[in-house]
Amino acid sequence: MSIQTETIRRMTAPQIAGRKGGTPIVSLTSYHAHTAAIVDKYADFILVGDSLGMVMHGMDSTVGVSLDLMIMHGKAVVRGTKRALIVVDMPFGTYEESPNMAFRNAARIMKETACGAIKLEGGARMAETIRFLTERGIPVMAHIGLTPQSSHVMGGFKTQGRNEDTWPAHEADAQAVADAGAFAVVLEGMVEPLAARITQQIPIPTIGIGASADCDGQILVLEDMLGLNPWTPKFVKVYGEFGGMMERAVSAYADEVKSRAFPGDDQTYS
Ligand code: KIV
Repeated sequence: MSIQTETIRRMTAPQIAGRKGGTPIVSLTSYHAHTAAIVDKYADFILVGDSLGMVMHGMDSTVGVSLDLMIMHGKAVVRGTKRALIVVDMPFGTYEESPNMAFRNAARIMKETACGAIKLEGGARMAETIRFLTERGIPVMAHIGLTPQSSHVMGGFKTQGRNEDTWPAHEADAQAVADAGAFAVVLEGMVEPLAARITQQIPIPTIGIGASADCDGQILVLEDMLGLNPWTPKFVKVYGEFGGMMERAVSAYADEVKSRAFPGDDQTYS
């Protein structure tokens, strides 16, 4: 008798890079093991985004997110998944100062979470760091356009590229991160024609969020598309009304407890 074991291989950064111009890349964020296990069945990669600071921890921006917080959520998502590539965001202040600092912190994320890649924000200004990391074994996903970690400089969360005069700078950012070795680039909050142009121009996949349907893939924040956030950006299509469902369930529970209709404590766990 032979025992058959099924080996499930995780997606890799080069496999994502190889999807340029092919079947669109599906991705979502996730911050916990149990939601990641569901997303894992459908997504090519899962991003443990620093948006978790705002979505899970009630922060006003992503600026306050720490490396330890990213590592804790990264570990949970890796534990809950088998097949998607897991990408963990480098939080603000952990990579901008120098390529050496970026390598030290990215290596910590990779070692402690066992994720397959990291993501960092910035275009041409981060090219040297992206090259430094990729040459030393760390796959990098870049992130340009609206970069939330720079929201204080940008004056808020504003769509980029409304003025065509700014397009060359965004195009140069995209080319610089591709030349530096990034395996994919997130285009966030960017006017549609600019995102479509960049997708045509560069050899690595573009992953759109509030950008263009012509990108090589799309990403959404899971809680946004599930209707779990009280506020979601205008471009987000809400695929489920989980906020309302949760409120109804919590209110039904509260009613049962208050009216002593709650199941008795003679129930066992299993
Ligand atoms: O932090 C995040 O969730 C992100 C996505 C919005 C791309 O960077």
